[in-house]
Amino acid sequence: MRLSGLGFRVGGLDILQDVDLEVAQGECLGVIGPNGAGKTTLFNLLSGLLTPTAGQVEIEGRNLAGLGPAPRARLGLGRTFQSSTVFAALSPLDHARLAALARAGAHPHWWARLRPGDPAQGLAVEAVRAVGLEKLADRPVAALSHGDRRKVELAILLAGGARTLLLDEPMAGVNREDVPELVQLIARLRQGGRTVLMVEHHMAVVMGLVDRVAVLHHGRLLTCGTPEEVASDTTVQAVYLGDPL
Ligand SMILES: Nc1ncnc2c1ncn2[C@@H]1O[C@H](COP(=O)(O)OP(=O)(O)OP(=O)(O)O)[C@@H](O)[C@H]1O
Ligand SMILES: [Mg+2]
Repeated sequence: MRLSGLGFRVGGLDILQDVDLEVAQGECLGVIGPNGAGKTTLFNLLSGLLTPTAGQVEIEGRNLAGLGPAPRARLGLGRTFQSSTVFAALSPLDHARLAALARAGAHPHWWARLRPGDPAQGLAVEAVRAVGLEKLADRPVAALSHGDRRKVELAILLAGGARTLLLDEPMAGVNREDVPELVQLIARLRQGGRTVLMVEHHMAVVMGLVDRVAVLHHGRLLTCGTPEEVASDTTVQAVYLGDPL
């Protein structure tokens, strides 16, 4: 994925400015920055929810200009949101089936009956297993812990065939003791050459997970480097005003 001169300006304010970044296929990139730095805005531009006012995004050599979220998803770009976005009454398997059906181009109805041999059913079962929710596959999501709901969101991406995953604070709201398991799971998502971009406030969480870290500050890319390089960068330390990285 290549971002060139990416910017978003609204009401005379530059929310994001001049972001140049190249993310290799199969790479895991952490995106950090203080509150309001523009991290979610960046993901909104990448996923097509917002239209950039400057610059462009390419994925697998294709310019995404003019494409909304649905065609981008069909090109393999999947995202999760900062706040959990699942349907309380549906099960993990229902969510994965919907994603698998959408991937197959079917008009997805959650009540659609799938036969055991249906490819969408197979993809859904596989995705639920990949995130470790097979024992809870048929429970309503309302009965699941917050950490398990976040896994459902990841299963949706897998079932939908995402090859580039944008995860906006996937650990937000998750119990501290459940974080290591989610980190492991995200590490596994990279298997098969998937690319992961992940917003996370605390470097400690992503230290062992990401290849590089991009730091946003006031809508600009402050720096991008290995976790070690970024953690020892005095400008980055100053931005965090003494918060531990
Ligand atoms: N459409 C918009 N119109 C006006 N201001 C916006 C818009 N979208 C975002 N902003 C502002 O842009 C800034 C960046 O917001 P953004 O949500 O991208 O930050 P963030 O880095 O994700 O922060 P957080 O860590 O709190 O999630 C904020 O000051 C926000 O209020
Ligand atoms: Mg945000």
